[in-house]
Amino acid sequence: MAWNNTNTEDPVSVLLAGPQERVDLWYQALSGVGRFRISSVAYTGDDFLAKLGGVQDVILLDAACFDGPQALMQAIPKVQSATYVFLPRDVPQNELEQARQGLENFPQVKKTFVGDANLPNLMKEMYAAAQGNRNAVQHWGGGNRKSGGGGSRPVATRIIAVWNQVGGAGKTTITSNLGYLAMERGYKTLLIGLDGPDPLPLYVDAKLKSRPNLTTWQSNPTAEGLQAAIQKVSANLHIIAGFPDLFLLSEFMEIEEAHPASLSRLVDMAIKEEYTVIILDAPPSQGAASALAAANSLVLVARPTDESAYRTMVAYKTVTERLSGLNSITPSKIRVVLNMVRRGYGLTPDEFHAAVTRALQGTFPPLVAVIPDIPKVLDLQGERVLPVQRNETYREAITPLANSFFVDKGTSSGNGQYKEEKKILGIRVRW
Ligand SMILES: Nc1ncnc2c1ncn2[C@@H]1O[C@H](COP(=O)(O)OP(=O)(O)O)[C@@H](O)[C@H]1O
Ligand SMILES: [Mg+2]
Repeated sequence: MAWNNTNTEDPVSVLLAGPQERVDLWYQALSGVGRFRISSVAYTGDDFLAKLGGVQDVILLDAACFDGPQALMQAIPKVQSATYVFLPRDVPQNELEQARQGLENFPQVKKTFVGDANLPNLMKEMYAAAQGNRNAVQHWGGGNRKSGGGGSRPVATRIIAVWNQVGGAGKTTITSNLGYLAMERGYKTLLIGLDGPDPLPLYVDAKLKSRPNLTTWQSNPTAEGLQAAIQKVSANLHIIAGFPDLFLLSEFMEIEEAHPASLSRLVDMAIKEEYTVIILDAPPSQGAASALAAANSLVLVARPTDESAYRTMVAYKTVTERLSGLNSITPSKIRVVLNMVRRGYGLTPDEFHAAVTRALQGTFPPLVAVIPDIPKVLDLQGERVLPVQRNETYREAITPLANSFFVDKGTSSGNGQYKEEKKILGIRVRW
């Protein structure tokens, strides 16, 4: 037997979560089937979160074990395994639809059911999903750009703009750390800095310089020009630094989309080069429009203040209303991160969310990650080390954001580079 096939012989481990009657039913159905092994059961939402610490291939989750949709949506980003969610029948249709749409944002949620599912069919799907995860090729529903490259592409590229309308919220920090997590999970990742001057290379690695940069691409917008503009942090984490100054930045941002040197063309070229994750560190200025037009997902970074809540509301409206139709960022492709949260300072996460919702007079996505104010972040950036590499608090806090975009291919196979890397860095493996 080939060494890399041994995993497929293991039974698929399953976590069952829901009210007791439901869990008992599932338990009976699965326990007689040799391909499955019940790894644990949970009857309440808290218990479910605690049981996630164990490793399982598949989760069956009856949402009735949560107090409501908000608690469910807060738990889902913490999940990494292939998950099947059962929503209760007896709730209003619009709430069901909203929950379904919210859940579909997460690549780890394979399917949602209302009420019941056909168990034998579901078991087939669960088995296939677990094998799929173990064998690693992931298909994302997300990317809707034209492939451009001609050949068939196994993976849709996530093109993520990290943005808000204000400096200092933590965009560049999130771009660099999210990019590192994508690389760790096996995605070929390209970070593009769009500031001038641009601190991105300084945040990522001590060996990076401010040149080559986007001007290198601009003067030669071809596959060779792209290669020349790139700096490599590791085999799968590459960056293109932004501009030396503000003038060069605004010049670039004014280039029309159809021009060969535009940001959209650069992204197309990167897709041809088989990057599966491209993260754009969008500037707070009006130049962000070209980054938003090139992206298919958005991370809105906010701070826990009333002013930031207001700006976040405006940013959300800008993307979903003013620019809708000009880009492919629908509300379900938007992730909101609250950064630099400090006890006794500013708004709590709930207050922040309520403030935006009130100002918006409509629904606003739940916060996918809440990152505390961690003074060590600045020190680590000074040493040119990424916080996710050294600071476990930062790593834990940003992980739900990574989970909402990237499936962790290392977790279920147990032999991925991811685990090894984590061990070398001496970081506790939680999921
Ligand atoms: N979670 C955090 N805790 C403490 N400091 C942070 C955190 N995130 C970012 N910072 C610091 O805040 C400053 C601004 O962050 P940066 O990522 O450059 O923001 P932006 O790109 O939005 O202007 C930097 O000095 C960075 O070290
Ligand atoms: Mg920045």
